[in-house]
Parts: sequence; structure tokens; C-alpha cells
Amino acid sequence: MNANRAPLLRRWDPLVRIAHWGTVAAVIANALVTEEGSAAHVWVGFGLASLLALRLLWGFVGTPQARFSAFPPSPSRALAHIRDIAAGRHTIHASHNPLGALMVYTMWSCLAVIVATGIALSPPSGLSGNAISGRESQAEPMERLSATKVSTRHDGRGEHEDEEGTLTEAHEIAVNLLYVLIALHLAGVIFETRRAGPQIIGAMLPWPPRRRRE
Ligand code: HEM
Ligand code: HEM
Repeated sequence: MNANRAPLLRRWDPLVRIAHWGTVAAVIANALVTEEGSAAHVWVGFGLASLLALRLLWGFVGTPQARFSAFPPSPSRALAHIRDIAAGRHTIHASHNPLGALMVYTMWSCLAVIVATGIALSPPSGLSGNAISGRESQAEPMERLSATKVSTRHDGRGEHEDEEGTLTEAHEIAVNLLYVLIALHLAGVIFETRRAGPQIIGAMLPWPPRRRRE
């Protein structure tokens, strides 16, 4: 792990910062502003998907600090990090600390499930119409199409409906899990900031504060 004893000079590169705050904006928009399943919701969702894809690609080819190799997922290192915290030892990490790394991979996995289920739920032409969840203008043709394609079981529910219900449930569960992860993430950021200083947040700000000259 990129742990060293040099002073913390963490400064996330612009792509990491743009991807982070873009993700935050998209999550807030889809959680609080857009109508669930509306065209706006899906547009914001594709924006979120693009940011996630870009950041994951950056994990292979990006700046040293942003690469996955700088913060491998390692439960044993995370445990060692917890022991360090308990013992009051402070090791400096050039990238995410081992505990933070586990959280980051978990958040990305959760976002990937949200994106995958969200895209699967979006009709192919869903970006130009009104609310999908309203099931009016946009959803109608799709449902008519699927009604001709799917077999209807004895309980009267099409297999397509079952599949859509499962996807919607998976989307909702992943969204709720994301809220829990965000709360833990914020608690972690506050904890680390109290332990290591405000540069933890400063390094992720859209415009990081200038470093003071020694
Ligand atoms: C973190 C970001 C997101 C949040 C907070 C979010 C939230 C939600 C919620 C709460 C619902 C209602 C689920 C239900 O009916 O029980 C929903 C539905 C939906 N979402 Fe998302 N969503 C997000 C990302 C996405 C993405 C990335 C896409 C696609 C690109 C997407 C597409 C949809 C669609 C199509 C529905 C309608 C499902 C249906 O009722 O059939 N969402 N979303
Ligand atoms: C929707 C809410 C949020 C989500 C989904 C989220 C997600 C993430 C993710 C995925 C990373 C890893 C960044 C990367 O390596 O590309 C990260 C890092 C970080 N986030 Fe957030 N974040 C959220 C809100 C916030 C807020 C409100 C703050 C500020 C108070 C914040 C501060 C940070 C910091 C300081 C880091 C870097 C941690 C470190 O130095 O290891 N995040 N966040």
C-alpha cells in the first residue's frame, strides 16, 4: 500500500474531483429532484453511468494516486488500519486508506448495480418522452409490444412484468443501500478529517485551497 511517512500531500486530480462531485450531484438530483423513472431521471442516470465508467477507466490509466493499484481492496490491511487507529498510530496514505478503499469499492459496486438495473428498466426510446413511471405516453407502446411478446401465466401476470418488478425492487434496494453507504462515507470523512486534518476534505474540493508556503 502507498503508505509512507511523508507529509500528506494528497490532492486528487481534476478527473477524480469532477467524477466525485458530478456523482454527488447526480445522486442528489435522482434522489430528490427528478421524478422516479422520468426522462430527466434516466438522463441524469446516464450522466452518472458515464462518470462512473470514466472513473473506473481512470483506475487503470490515471494518475498514480487514482489507480486501483494505489488502494487495493484488502480486508487484512483494513483490519491493520483499524488496529492503528485503536493504538493511536497515524500512518499517512498517499491514496485512500485501506478502510476508505473498501468503502470506495463498495460504493462503486452499489452504483454499478443502480446503473445496470436503471438502464435495464429504461425503455429504448425513454429519453425523449415524459415520465416513464407515469406509464402514460412513453410506456404505452412498450407495454403493448411486450404484451404481444410475453407469455401470460395462469395468474394473469406476464413474465415481463415479473422481471420488471424484480429489477425495480433491485434498483430500489441498491438505492437504499447507497444511502446507508453515503452516511457511513460521510462519517468516515468526518472521522478522518478530525484525525488527520482538513486537508482530507480540501484535497477533494472542486477547487482545492492553495497550499500555504512553509
Ligand atoms: C443514484 C442514483 C439513482 C437514484 C437515487 C434512483 C432512485 C430511483 C427510485 C427511488 C426509483 C423508484 C423505484 C420504485 O418504483 O420502487 C427509481 C426508478 C427508476 N430509475 Fe432510478 N435512481 C437512480 C439512478 C438511475 C439510473 C442510473 C437509471 C438509468 C440510467 C435509472 C432509471 C430508473 C427507471 C427507468 C426507473 C423506473 C422503474 C419503474 O418504475 O419501472 N435510475 N429510481
Ligand atoms: C452522494 C454522496 C457521495 C457519494 C456517492 C460519494 C462517493 C465517493 C467516492 C466514490 C469516493 C472515491 C473517490 C475516487 O477515488 O474517485 C469518495 C471520496 C471522497 N469523498 Fe465522497 N461521496 C459523497 C459525498 C461526499 C461529501 C458530501 C463529501 C464532503 C464532505 C465527500 C468527501 C469525500 C472525500 C474527502 C473523499 C476522499 C477520501 C479520501 O481521502 O480517501 N463525499 N466519495
